[in-house]
Formats: sequence, C-alpha cells, structure tokens
Amino acid sequence: MAFQYPIKLIANALGVPPKAMLEKGKQHGVAVAALVGAKEHAIAQVQAGVDILVVAGGEAGGHCGDVSTMVLVPEVATALAKIGAKTPILAAGGIVTGAQMAAAMCMGAAGAWCGSVWLTTTEAETNPIVKEKMIAASSRDTVRSRSRTGKPSRQLRSPWTDAWEAETAPKPLPMPLQSLVSEPPLRLVDKLSQGNHEGAKQLATYWVGQGVGLMNETMSAGAVVQRFKEDFLAAYERLGGFLAE
Ligand SMILES: Cc1cc2nc3c(=O)[nH]c(=O)nc-3n(C[C@H](O)[C@H](O)[C@H](O)COP(=O)(O)O)c2cc1C
Repeated sequence: MAFQYPIKLIANALGVPPKAMLEKGKQHGVAVAALVGAKEHAIAQVQAGVDILVVAGGEAGGHCGDVSTMVLVPEVATALAKIGAKTPILAAGGIVTGAQMAAAMCMGAAGAWCGSVWLTTTEAETNPIVKEKMIAASSRDTVRSRSRTGKPSRQLRSPWTDAWEAETAPKPLPMPLQSLVSEPPLRLVDKLSQGNHEGAKQLATYWVGQGVGLMNETMSAGAVVQRFKEDFLAAYERLGGFLAE
C-alpha cells in the first residue's frame, strides 16, 4: 500500500523488515528505516540491509527498550564503526528540544526522530483530555508497561496503567492478543472522557515518552519546528563557546 504513494521513507519496527520491504524500497528509491532499542538489534538490522537506523532509547513513547538514549546512541555508533558500517543513525527517545538534537548529533547521530512532541500540538488528534494531562505531566508521569499491547511500551500513567501494574493484576497476554483486551475499553474511556465522565477522565491515557515533562504548552507543529531550530542553534553556539575558552 505504502509504495503506491510518493513516499521518501518507510520505517519498520519490532524486528528486521521483511525482505519484500527492503527489495521494494530499492526498486522505488525509498529509504527503509528500522527502529532499534539495543546494540544487537542495530547490528542485525544493518546486516539485513536497512538504509537508516532509528536508535530509540527507553525514554521513548510507544514501544521501547530499556537502555537510555544517552547511552544507546553512542553504543550503537561505536558498534557500527567497529564493523565498518556507515548506516546513518537517527536518535530517538525523549527528544523534545533542539539542544537535545544537538546532543544526539554530538554523540554520533545524523539527526533526530521525534514522536511524543507532536502529541500536544494544535494539529494533533490526541484526545483533548489526554492533551491537557500531557501538558501538566512531569517526566515521572509515564510508565513502560506490557499492558497495552503485550510488549513493553511507554505511556502516560493513569489509574488504568496503575491497575495493570498492581501485584494482583493478571499478566498481560502476548502481542497481538493484549491489544484485543485493552483497546476496546480504552477507546470507550476516550469517548466517555470527552463527554466529561469523571472516572473516564481519570483513566484516560495514551502512549507518550518521558519528554512529556518538557512539553508544557500547546503550539502548532510549525512553531515546534521553529523552536527546534532556534534551540539547536543556541546549543551549537554554547558548544562553540566552550571551545573558545
Ligand atoms: C503515540 C505514539 C505512537 C507510536 N506508534 C508507533 C508505530 O506505530 N510504529 C513505530 O515504529 N513507532 C511508533 N512510535 C514510536 C515513534 O516512532 C518514536 O520512535 C518515538 O515516539 C520516539 O520517542 P519520543 O516519543 O520520546 O519522541 C509511536 C510513538 C508514540 C508516542
């Protein structure tokens, strides 16, 4: 389906892309990216022939590993250099500011890949109740849990996620079965919360990373990009200042 459109990039997560995707990418001149959360996965992806690695730390919203971006990006960059691979790295996980992008690029990334930061933009289709919660949340208000999909994914903490993390809670089913358990009630919670149902407002949750602690106002996606640029430049100048000293 995706290759029927004029796309420039296709990204695959949770394993090595199917051979057909890599072949179709080559045929259509479309770069194939792969998300990885561990050094070993990065090497396996490079050996399979992916064009771009999205190296996502455990801070990330959605499915993620448990190694932080600050450690994983240089770890993967060093491992790739060791095997002579030149695959570009996009750093992901917790990146919400231009200074963080600059830091990622200092650590060997060619660029950054962001997810959570868009969730509170004016254009985002995020449930407005959840958007408000995200704006108010700190970086400690997320949890990495199997309860939504069966694989560990980072999401906004709520009484829903707390109940799944309780000692007495049933073990989540393996992917893809757990989504059959969690998605229908969570969709209902979303609907009811927007109708001002108090309990549903409390339960409402969505995937988001620890960077939520830095997402403190709603602005347009364009304004986010502009702020990225300005903050990146300020960080770059700050680094230059250190060298001048
Ligand atoms: C709401 C949400 C949904 C996501 N869905 C997917 C997905 O379907 N496939 C995927 O490869 N990554 C998905 N991700 C992960 C992002 O591609 C990205 O790696 C991650 O958001 C980066 O970390 P950050 O959230 O700290 O910016 C999702 C992330 C969020 C926040």
